[in-house]
Amino acid sequence: MVFVPLLVVSVWLLCSCAGSPPNFVLLFADDLGFGDLASYGHPSSLTPNLDRLAAGGLRFTDFYCTSPVCSPSRASLLTGRYQTRSGIYPGVLYPGSIGGLPLNETTIAEVLKPLGYATAVVGKWHLGYGADGMFLPTKQGFDQYLGIPYSHDMGPCWNLTCFPPDVKCFGTCDLGTVTVPLMHNEVIKQQPVNFLDLEKAYSDFAVNFITTSVMKKQPFFLYYPSHHTHYPQYAGSMAAGKSLRGPFGDALLEFDSTVGDLLATLEKTGVINNTLIFFTSDNGPELMRMSRGGNAGPLKCGKGTTYEGGMREPAIAYWPGTIRPGVTHEMASTLDILPTIASLAGAKLPQVMLDGVDMAEILFHQGKSKRETMMFYPIDPSEMYGLFALRLGKYKAHFYTQGATHSATTPDKDCPGFAVLKAHNPPLIFDLESDPSENYHLPVEERPDLQALLERIKKVKEQFEATMVFGESQISKGTNPNLAPCCNPQCSPKPSCCHCQ
Ligand SMILES: *[C@@H]1O[C@H](CO)[C@@H](O)[C@H](O)[C@H]1NC(C)=O
Ligand SMILES: *[C@@H]1O[C@H](CO)[C@@H](O)[C@H](O)[C@H]1NC(C)=O
Ligand SMILES: *[C@@H]1O[C@H](CO)[C@@H](O)[C@H](O)[C@H]1NC(C)=O
Repeated sequence: MVFVPLLVVSVWLLCSCAGSPPNFVLLFADDLGFGDLASYGHPSSLTPNLDRLAAGGLRFTDFYCTSPVCSPSRASLLTGRYQTRSGIYPGVLYPGSIGGLPLNETTIAEVLKPLGYATAVVGKWHLGYGADGMFLPTKQGFDQYLGIPYSHDMGPCWNLTCFPPDVKCFGTCDLGTVTVPLMHNEVIKQQPVNFLDLEKAYSDFAVNFITTSVMKKQPFFLYYPSHHTHYPQYAGSMAAGKSLRGPFGDALLEFDSTVGDLLATLEKTGVINNTLIFFTSDNGPELMRMSRGGNAGPLKCGKGTTYEGGMREPAIAYWPGTIRPGVTHEMASTLDILPTIASLAGAKLPQVMLDGVDMAEILFHQGKSKRETMMFYPIDPSEMYGLFALRLGKYKAHFYTQGATHSATTPDKDCPGFAVLKAHNPPLIFDLESDPSENYHLPVEERPDLQALLERIKKVKEQFEATMVFGESQISKGTNPNLAPCCNPQCSPKPSCCHCQ
């Protein structure tokens, strides 16, 4: 008889969720391809916790990021705008980059702050560091940050031993710059970061953030952009050698274990039924790393290209009791996450040109997407070339195609870097429902019935491009080695003296 009141008391202590605004956990994998998860058909990936999200959540088949590389994709995720507007192009930011995500862009964290949300990011930022850390997450609406400010191969590897004492990284990393730092808010906590203990630090930080927010009865937004499964793949002792897939599988398993810790914490604190968890990845697999480079499943090419393999991603929305488990074929994008979160929280949308739409109909009503188009810009977008491709309904039209070094080594000759830029007029049009691999373009010239489609595609392209104002390129501002994070700023000789433990 004592059990009933005890249970009531403990639930009351943990969460008085009814009517309180939802929490958001945004999980963002790195260079993880469309075919890399068991729930998307990979036969030997071990991801028990992501599998649980997939089985209990809504799995997207037609979900897109906005760029086939890291920084631009992240800019769009956090702002709901194509990277061309915010200026995060061409390519990615480096240690010492002068530019970063402009501070007048509004991130998801900034959308939620006025409503009293606690906000934190743990993991790979890659939207700039800048002079005195002016582009760090704490300047963009996040209360707290723990992580590496860019990619973890952007620092020297020691004779192919990426992770001392002896974890091999199977290739080279960037020489001539500082070793990779671990930031806590705006302070360098460790340089070089201890990679083998990093996942545990991330997990502890995120668990503590959730627990503290619940205790303070504060709704929260946790953004976890993982460095897994980006090159060089590795894992700490908990996951190293434990997957069936070698280093890539180990890296994925390590990320998955943190997903498990987060799920357990959301359950333990009683907020799991009041939390939207959204999982996706920043861009397609880096096929140049061969068996360690991820997998695009049935999709063409991978990272660096505007083929489907470069930008179509696994995506899962999980919210027990609120989102019905299943699969949706509706088109959606990382661009849509900001408007969706804003509407769920009852927050104001930023007064800017947004490219995202609210996904509520898809998530909660098995309904239709408000999104009819998806635009594909290359790594180096320019006003001169404009869009490389466009998806309209089930059709995708390529105005330009080009391979990428990141997608080298596959047998498909369209993928590697030596597949040079080609213009297509009329565009190459594929029906992605009957031909998701973009193998057989439609014979538009021989098919009068397709003329109307072609005209519509041209019109949509023209209308979209008329709205596109390219922001000043942040990445073309270049780098200044003195801006690279250094824990010991007055030391010499740089960069090797930037070393603190
Ligand atoms: C941010 O400021 C720059 C420079 O003044 C301006 O060009 C840009 O349009 C602004 N962006 C937003 C989102 O307001
Ligand atoms: C890397 O290898 C070279 C040549 O074998 C050696 O001279 C150098 O000391 C090594 N560097 C480190 C950091 O181990
Ligand atoms: C979440 O909802 C399910 C189904 O109603 C219930 O069984 C579970 O106890 C709830 N979990 C929490 C932590 O409130």
